[in-house]
Amino acid sequence: MENITYHNYQPTTLSFRDAVINGLSRDSKSIPPKFFYDERGSKLFAKICEQPEYYPPLVERKLLERLAGKIASLTGTGRVLIEPGAGNAAKVRLLLDALQPAAFVPMDISFDYLKSTARELAGEYPWLPVHAACVDYTHSLPIPQQAPEGPRLLFFPGSSLGNFDPGEAGDFLSLVRNTVGDNGMLLIGVDTKKSELLLNAAYNDAAGMTAAFNLNLLHRMRKELDMDCNPENFEHRAFYNSEAGRIEMHLVSKHKQELRVNGHSFNLEAGESLHTENSYKYAPEEFISLASNSGFKEVSHWMDSDGLFAIYLFEAF
Ligand SMILES: C[S@@+](CC[C@H](N)C(=O)[O-])C[C@H]1O[C@@H](n2cnc3c(N)ncnc32)[C@H](O)[C@@H]1O
Repeated sequence: MENITYHNYQPTTLSFRDAVINGLSRDSKSIPPKFFYDERGSKLFAKICEQPEYYPPLVERKLLERLAGKIASLTGTGRVLIEPGAGNAAKVRLLLDALQPAAFVPMDISFDYLKSTARELAGEYPWLPVHAACVDYTHSLPIPQQAPEGPRLLFFPGSSLGNFDPGEAGDFLSLVRNTVGDNGMLLIGVDTKKSELLLNAAYNDAAGMTAAFNLNLLHRMRKELDMDCNPENFEHRAFYNSEAGRIEMHLVSKHKQELRVNGHSFNLEAGESLHTENSYKYAPEEFISLASNSGFKEVSHWMDSDGLFAIYLFEAF
């Protein structure tokens, strides 16, 4: 297809192996959340987004539907639109007609999933050049040379920023600021602080999709790293840590067990956990201040009437 290019800046499976060995070597064992997303993990995440308890995508979509025209009037049309962690690109579809970007650069760590998303988009929007880049956005945001010059808008929905610790979030926003340049803008969806009841329900959906997504990490370790780790020996645990202002997700060992990888061996006690994800929540004033420290000035922000989720538009300064 003419209006689509693919670029692979992908980290190798070696870095997954290294991350697992590093993570299991720590006193408090942890594995970074970016490793959730093999093809099955990406599909499970799409299922999470359909669960009624998991309010962020439902609320964010409604906001984007309502605000697309308003946002386009503030950004103008014809920008190069970049989306790190584009996934199935469901949300950007709500903006494309209004924003009329000069090109779209979806980025994702899961290359197969990215390719199918890019193909679908190019079919649905024949006027839109798509330059798909397989990247790890925690390291860099390389823009393919084929993307046109011109002002850039980076779209980062889904409160994915919440997966970073606040210090790392500031570093990431500085990287975004460099990537979009002086005329650049940032449109970002961020989850708000709210009742623990709602937060805990959101990450413990009744259909068990978040649990399956979390446990998929063990399937991935078994499949790709040839580890003898049975997901049935672990359980999903997610809770709001109000002091830190974050949801924490863990895989808890049901009993004492040993995990072996690449000649290393690690013992897990019963009840010991692998910390797999944080999801920080921000009050608007906290988030605007964080972005301002990375070179972004607020243009506007919007929330639903219950204050469940916020969308911010920033410009570089
Ligand atoms: C939580 S989903 C969000 C998808 C979409 N942006 C949305 O809001 O619905 C995260 C997406 O980011 C990708 N992802 C996660 N960590 C990443 C990383 N470090 N680099 C690139 N992509 C990543 C995953 O593969 C997944 O498709």
